[in-house]
Amino acid sequence: MIIALGADHGGVPLKKSVIDAIESSGNRVLDLGTFNETPVDYPDYAKSVAEALISERAERGVLLCGSGVGACVAANKIAGIRACLCHDTYSAHQGVEHDDMNILCLGARVIGPALAVELVRSFLRARFSGEARHRRRLEKIVALEQDQRTHSPELAAGKLQKPFRHE
Ligand code: RB5
Repeated sequence: MIIALGADHGGVPLKKSVIDAIESSGNRVLDLGTFNETPVDYPDYAKSVAEALISERAERGVLLCGSGVGACVAANKIAGIRACLCHDTYSAHQGVEHDDMNILCLGARVIGPALAVELVRSFLRARFSGEARHRRRLEKIVALEQDQRTHSPELAAGKLQKPFRHE
C-alpha cells in the first residue's frame, strides 16, 4: 500500500520511526510534510493526507501532531475520512477491522517511537472485515455526512455549538 504521511511541527519527532515502520512492513510512504520543527498548522497537513486518500494517491494515511487530537479532528471534517487517535494496539487494528479506519493519528508528545512503531504495524496489518453489521454501520456514517447540509442552517443560526469562540 501507499501510505500518506503528514505531520505538523509537534509530530515531526516521530516521523523517522513511523517512516521506518511503514517501509519495513512492505509499504511505501507518500511524505506530505512538514519536514522540520518550524511551527505550522495541523489542519493543512490533515487536509493534504485526506486529499491523497480521496484522490486515491494513497490507500491509507498516518497523521502526527503533538497530541494527535487536532489532526484527527481536522481530518474527520472531510467526507470519506475515518481518522482515529489510537494509542493502544487493540484500537489500531480493530478500528480498521470494524470501522474501516483509514487514517491513524498519533501524538508525538504523548507516546514514544517504540509504541508508535507497534501501532503503525498493527494498523497496516489490519483489513476491514466486510461483515454485514460493520457495513451497515458505515452506511449510517455516510448518511451522517450526507445530512450535513440539513444541519448547517442550524449551525449558522447558532442553535448548535460553534466550533470556537473568542472571549
Ligand atoms: C502544536 O503546538 C499542537 O497544538 C499540535 O501539534 C497538536 O497537539 C494539536 O492537537
